[in-house]
Amino acid sequence: MTFALRPLLINCITRRNHGLRNNLTKTSLQLHTSKGLLHGEYEFQDPKSEDEVVNVIFIDKNGSRIPIKGKVGDNVLYLAHRYNIEMEGACEASLACTTCHVYVHHDYVDKLPVAEEKEEDLLDLAPFLKENSRLGCQIILTKELEGIELELPKATRNFYVDGHTPSAH
Ligand code: FES
Repeated sequence: MTFALRPLLINCITRRNHGLRNNLTKTSLQLHTSKGLLHGEYEFQDPKSEDEVVNVIFIDKNGSRIPIKGKVGDNVLYLAHRYNIEMEGACEASLACTTCHVYVHHDYVDKLPVAEEKEEDLLDLAPFLKENSRLGCQIILTKELEGIELELPKATRNFYVDGHTPSAH
C-alpha cells in the first residue's frame, strides 16, 4: 500500500464504521420504540375492521343496557374493564374466583364452548347461580356471539382476596 492510498482507505473504514454505528443506532432505536404487549393489553386494541366487530350488550346491576363494540378474540372480562362495566374479576382471569359471574342470554348459551370442570366448580360457589351462569373471563368473543347479552348478577362474592379490586391494565 502506498502512502497516497492510506488516507483514502482510513476514510473508507471510518465511513463504514460510522455507517455500522448508524445502523446499530437505528436498530436500537427500533428496539426501544417498539412497545411490548403487557398482559391483557390485546383487549385494549380497537377492531381493525368491521369484520372483527362483535357487538355485546352488558346489562348492569340496575338493569341498564350498555352496548359495546368488542372484537373477535376479546375476553369478556377485560372488555368489561375497558368500558368500566362493573365486572370485578378479582383473580384476573386465573379461574380462582366467581366475581366475573354473568348470565348469558339463553339464545347464546349453546354458542359458547362447554364450561370446564373448574369453571363449573367455581360457579357452584357463586351467589345467585342460574342455569345460564358463566364466568365472564372464560368467554372469548367469536363472530357467532354477535349481539350477545351479558347480565351482571345482583351481587358477587369475593372469596379470592377480600377487598382486592383489580383495575384495568
Ligand atoms: S376473574 Fe376470577 S374466575 Fe374470572
